Amino acid sequence: MSTHAAVQAYYGQELGGSADLKTNACCDAEALPAWLKPLLERIHPEVSKRYYGCGLVCPPLLEGCRVLDLGCGSGRDAYLLSQLVGPRGQVVGVDMTREQLAIAKGYAEYHADLFGYANVSFLEGTIEQLQELPLGACRA
Ligand SMILES: C[S@@+](CC[C@H](N)C(=O)[O-])C[C@H]1O[C@@H](n2cnc3c(N)ncnc32)[C@H](O)[C@@H]1O
Repeated sequence: MSTHAAVQAYYGQELGGSADLKTNACCDAEALPAWLKPLLERIHPEVSKRYYGCGLVCPPLLEGCRVLDLGCGSGRDAYLLSQLVGPRGQVVGVDMTREQLAIAKGYAEYHADLFGYANVSFLEGTIEQLQELPLGACRA
């Protein structure tokens, strides 16, 4: 099995939720800075349940920025960043694991309705071959 296939099987099929992670190297929601917690609470529970990330490090002043989230998984950080960049900004999430992306995409409308704007899009692809993705054309 290739490394890509092994990673896809792990994140897409083996894990069912954050509690299944086989490492404690990642941070849980408790480790998030206090000012981000109200934004996290607005994210759909199914998206947060599939959070396999290592904590979110982000500067506070992102309004209007374009952010590329490489290895976005189910989109928790993308939807958090969506609120930080605001309606004039944009977030693009890239991931190669179809199951995780399906969750991310499946809740795009939910979050757009909740936030009052749609500024997040997701692309399936690998970080090694970003040149194959229509990043420039991405508009939520
Ligand atoms: C540690 S998880 C983090 C997921 C997500 N950021 C989150 O917060 O839940 C790593 C993610 O990166 C993706 N990934 C790993 N290597 C990748 C690659 N070379 N190209 C695209 N995605 C990759 C996996 O599919 C997985 O969803």
